[in-house]
Amino acid sequence: ERLPALLCAMPKAELHMHIEGSLEPELIFALAQRNGVALPYADVEALRRAYAFTNLQSFLDIYYAGASVLLKEQDFYDMAWAYLERAAADNVVRTEMFFDPQTHTARGVDIQVVIEGLHRACVDAEAKLGVSAALILCFLRHLSEEEAFETLEQALPYATKFIGVGLDSSEVGHPPEKFAKVFARCRELGLHLVAHAGEEGPPAYVWSALDVLKVERVDHGVQSAKDPVLMARLAKDRIPLTVCPLSNLKLCVFPDLKQHNLKTLLDAGLVATVNSDDPAYFGGYMNENFLQTFAATGLTAQHAWQLAANSFEGSFIDDAAKARYI
Ligand code: ADE
Ligand code: ZN
Repeated sequence: ERLPALLCAMPKAELHMHIEGSLEPELIFALAQRNGVALPYADVEALRRAYAFTNLQSFLDIYYAGASVLLKEQDFYDMAWAYLERAAADNVVRTEMFFDPQTHTARGVDIQVVIEGLHRACVDAEAKLGVSAALILCFLRHLSEEEAFETLEQALPYATKFIGVGLDSSEVGHPPEKFAKVFARCRELGLHLVAHAGEEGPPAYVWSALDVLKVERVDHGVQSAKDPVLMARLAKDRIPLTVCPLSNLKLCVFPDLKQHNLKTLLDAGLVATVNSDDPAYFGGYMNENFLQTFAATGLTAQHAWQLAANSFEGSFIDDAAKARYI
């Protein structure tokens, strides 16, 4: 069968993954031991058994607990390096990785420790793996805009080490416009802007991500298919949607991969991409997302080519680099 081989071999960019979501249970237990952190799970198998999610919040509770083992710069490096090696094996040649500083600063970890550890892994990935890697700082939307401003302030001494900001965590009840002022400030600072919208939340959240936050990409965005006017807007402005099929399956956004709307989005001319979101929790890195989604939905080699091209078009590499890939 040639299509699976093409999906695995084709060079691709990953535009939506949370580095804390790449922590495998084995590494969680190794770091817990190294740092003397107690975990509320007896062993790796017990932790893995807890990965039975019903919605976004049921996942986030376990995801934040897993991140509690990260304390030292080397922990952040080791986590990112493990992901980057795995990404290279899937022929990911560019990755734009989200990180959640507030998950760590709330536990007394300095933001410098977080950013320096992750950034050092990005530098090594270029040199040793040939993977171009960049960081996007995410604000946690269940916290206040004031706390987002404090996080931005703490991060600015390291502003050369991340390329943009995003918005993640619990979506429903925390619309994009809650963060209008801090995104306006980030825009003035010349940072790239993205936000999770339309994962579980309504099309109205995608509209406000675009029109209030002025994001360049929408993370997930799959609920946009409910609003034909929004679909036309996304197509006209070539706003990329960073879709995460296995995440959507595990968080019950779609009951079944066969029901996933990726093909609808692509066939409507949207710049949709495939991404892993939180690969250690959702059962697959990039190629597994491609393989399972293509097998379930009947996408073709033409769609594969389109998804790869979309991933580079949607990335924040410069135009000369894009021209080499597309
Ligand atoms: N944080 C990590 N993964 C997330 C997701 N899929 N949605 C919102 N916040 C997240
Ligand atoms: Zn996400």
